[in-house]
Amino acid sequence: MPIFKKEKKNKNKTVETNENPLQIINNCKIGEGTKIWNFVNIYGCEIGRDSMVGCFCEIQKGVKIGDRTRIQSHSFVCELVEIGSDCFIGHGVMFINDVYPPQPDPSMWKRTVIEDGVSIGSNATILPVRIGKGAVIGAGAVVTKDVPDGTVIAGNPASFMRFSSAGNKE
Ligand SMILES: CC(C)(COP(=O)(O)OP(=O)(O)OC[C@H]1O[C@@H](n2cnc3c(N)ncnc32)[C@H](O)[C@@H]1OP(=O)(O)O)[C@@H](O)C(=O)NCCC(=O)NCCS
Repeated sequence: MPIFKKEKKNKNKTVETNENPLQIINNCKIGEGTKIWNFVNIYGCEIGRDSMVGCFCEIQKGVKIGDRTRIQSHSFVCELVEIGSDCFIGHGVMFINDVYPPQPDPSMWKRTVIEDGVSIGSNATILPVRIGKGAVIGAGAVVTKDVPDGTVIAGNPASFMRFSSAGNKE
């Protein structure tokens, strides 16, 4: 009987270009068990294990997405966005990095961080903010300010509705 467990082989793969003509995937690091549906355009990003990217999503270079996170169809995840693990990004969620477009100089763009366990409703627009752990963003929200952990927000501009049942436990 071996005393130590055999180290699990890291099966994350780097997809430089893909063979499926219905997907455009270039230079991405994609974790084991992650499912990418057809009609995506994703490049230069990192996606963890057991995640999912739905049809018609674009994910730009430098984006990092954690494990078990679901990006539903028609969403756009731009450069300078980081999404944690166990997140739900609804259909047609739009992230923004250039607040005064078009600014060709990327040093003028701003960063967005989505912490673990966040749920973002369909058709939400996320300006450059930090969304705290376990927060819930209503469908159609326009998020213009940082969102504290475990809160539910909605509306345009999005504002506090209540605390989520899952959040704010720490
Ligand atoms: C934000 C959300 C979580 C709130 O759910 P809830 O706490 O059960 O809220 P309620 O339905 O009790 O509504 C409470 C109030 O907020 C309003 N409201 C609910 N969702 C809203 C939204 N997305 N934007 C603006 N107002 C909203 C309701 O009209 C209601 O207003 P009133 O008090 O004036 O009548 C939910 O409505 C939502 O948007 N979920 C996202 C769903 C989604 O996009 N899923 C994607 C996969 S299908």
